[in-house]
Amino acid sequence: MMVWLAFGAQADAEPAKSDKPPKDDELVLNIGHRGASGYAPEHTIPAYDLALKKGADYIEQDLQLTKDGVLVVLHDETLDRTARGPAENCTGLVRDKTLAEIKTCDAGSWFNETYPEYADSSYVGLKIPTLEEVFRRYRGGVNYYIETKSPEAAPGMEEELLRLMDKYNLTKKSERDRQVLIQSFSPASLQKISSLNPNLPLIQLYPDAGNTPRTVEAQLDLASLYAVGIGPSKNDVDRSLTKAAQDRCLDVHPYTVNEPEEMEALIAAGVSGMFTNFPDSLETILGEEAAKGKTGAKLAERAGQACSASR
Ligand code: G3P
Ligand code: CA
Repeated sequence: MMVWLAFGAQADAEPAKSDKPPKDDELVLNIGHRGASGYAPEHTIPAYDLALKKGADYIEQDLQLTKDGVLVVLHDETLDRTARGPAENCTGLVRDKTLAEIKTCDAGSWFNETYPEYADSSYVGLKIPTLEEVFRRYRGGVNYYIETKSPEAAPGMEEELLRLMDKYNLTKKSERDRQVLIQSFSPASLQKISSLNPNLPLIQLYPDAGNTPRTVEAQLDLASLYAVGIGPSKNDVDRSLTKAAQDRCLDVHPYTVNEPEEMEALIAAGVSGMFTNFPDSLETILGEEAAKGKTGAKLAERAGQACSASR
């Protein structure tokens, strides 16, 4: 992964090694949750750079839409938890602020205050990135795992995402090679994307609250109409669920898995990837022989196609 990162910020580079195809049932994708957010402020460029350096196959982006229609990368609907700066600009709902206002906020200081063991003075003053800035930095060199957040409160979010994917030549790469996976807790948002482009790979998320492995299992037939995979809470995964998902050609990518013991248990349960704040921990478990980066994404797509063809 170190070699890949060196090219990743500039070009469509392939990983230099570890591209030996694994058996389909051994493929486990390493998804950097909000970047390497255990080590650096979530959804900042250092968190994404670090995730790639530490072995992530995908970097995750949560989307919010500003008042003036720009997609920015932030988990919460409000700025309060992870932004510091003038209160009129850096507290309250993202959708009530312009991009110019949001760009006055500091997205790194909260991390140093909250996690002094990982604090770094270079994090002070980091900006909240736009999705376009992220695409401009990494281009076709990395895999993106993008979530439409609270899409019901942000009309036009899906169209703007697809417009930017087109602009940065990521649409075809997503359709063919799963270079962009689009995820949402909102079935309506995914179904809208599917109606705009039925060939994009979609992941249906399920909230932890109110679900069990069996309630997720009961929703798989619906998901399989438009999605290539599901993202349940790690608490809602067992062997029966992964088997039921495999029977419907659905990948299973639980969130958010930070302890090595949990990673091992979920791999044993048959998941096909997982979100983690500590991609280096998962990289250590998966080992050097695991498929990496774009190779891993392509293999997942091929396995999905083979599964569908066999049905
Ligand atoms: O998208 C998977 C996982 O990130 C969902 O939880 O709240 O961290 O977006 P959240
Ligand atoms: Ca997310």
